[in-house]
Amino acid sequence: MERTSQISGFYKLDLNGRLNIVKAFANLTDEEVEQLTSTTSLKMDLADKMIENVIGIMPVPLLINGRDYLIPMAIEEPSVVAAASNAAKMARVKGGFFTSSTEPVMIAQIQVTRLSDPHRARIEVFRRGDEILQLANQQDPFLISLGGGARSVGARVIPTSRGEMLVVELYVDCKDAMGANVVNTMAEAVAGYIEEITGGVVLLRIVSNLATLRLARASAVFDRETVGGEQVVDSILDAYAFAEADPYRCATHNKGVMNGITAVVLATGNDTRAIEAGAHAYAAIGGKYHPLTKWEKNSDGDLVGSIEVPMAVGLVGGATKSNPIAKICTKIIGAKNSRELGEVIAAVGLAQNFAALRALATEGIQKGHMKLHARNIAIMAGATGKLIDKVATKMVEEKKVRVDRAKEILDELREQGK
Ligand code: MEV
Repeated sequence: MERTSQISGFYKLDLNGRLNIVKAFANLTDEEVEQLTSTTSLKMDLADKMIENVIGIMPVPLLINGRDYLIPMAIEEPSVVAAASNAAKMARVKGGFFTSSTEPVMIAQIQVTRLSDPHRARIEVFRRGDEILQLANQQDPFLISLGGGARSVGARVIPTSRGEMLVVELYVDCKDAMGANVVNTMAEAVAGYIEEITGGVVLLRIVSNLATLRLARASAVFDRETVGGEQVVDSILDAYAFAEADPYRCATHNKGVMNGITAVVLATGNDTRAIEAGAHAYAAIGGKYHPLTKWEKNSDGDLVGSIEVPMAVGLVGGATKSNPIAKICTKIIGAKNSRELGEVIAAVGLAQNFAALRALATEGIQKGHMKLHARNIAIMAGATGKLIDKVATKMVEEKKVRVDRAKEILDELREQGK
């Protein structure tokens, strides 16, 4: 199957229909399909009733830079995948998502303490920069052979509650690795030399998860009429202004962004905590906590969204290559390098935020949530097969989504032989 074809009505297909599409789209082998469906601890038909677009891990069709992607998401919250799919469909009207990213440069920090003259020490670090880089780059010849490695050295004197300290930083192009291992090894390797040239005592030698040199960016235009008209566009902008002005709302706004980001990070076997830490620290950079996305209106009255977020994800190392499901998910996305993967993830975060803001600014999120939640409650009450949707629909109509009511409805339906 061509990777450029639009996958419309994906969510309407049954489990096998969706699996077949993903299989053809990503050239999965029979064995990979088998792994995808059997490794999950949930029974597949049960999972299919709990969350949308199930294929073992849930893929969302997104158009990015003119190319179609199927993006697997691993998440427990039922409405997230449907919301991302819906947002992705709306973005297509104006060409989908457009992305870019920086080089995959990670920062390693080396903390130098007990310095009587930290400013002289800082200058000394810069003077010996080449030697420090040389030492760092001896640690990973394979990374160097791929064109990566430590690129430059930084040094800052910081005031702390225990006096001034020197922070030496290595800026390392990690290519397709997430990079924490690589940069930690380098930081440990140069520590002795840094003690020697500064006269201080090195304490911590560790990656920074605030990966400001490894950013992924995405933007999309959402057609005014598709979004629901001028009033909906303005309401979304009001919702965004609320997040910009108030940290209590902003945390939830960013949580919505991270619903999308974390789900793909997890599906691809990357480090969700590193990404979460980096995203929230980036949102607070400069001292005020900001939304990770920005929303504006263009001269045609369309809604325009953008996102910029640290994105330390890899395609090699860690669980990305060793966990079979993560490996298959990465294959489904089909990113050629870690930058492309990061850009795809940023686009999903933007899509997710759009979907949440649109729902919140219009009918509220509970209607959609309750419909999906009701299916889970119906399953808990013992409903199977077609009865799940029947019980769920009745509970939503009655606005009584509870296990005891689900059991009553189930008994009634069974008595009627339905
Ligand atoms: C729920 O998981 C995410 C939302 O709360 C995000 C938001 O409020 O923007 C809907």
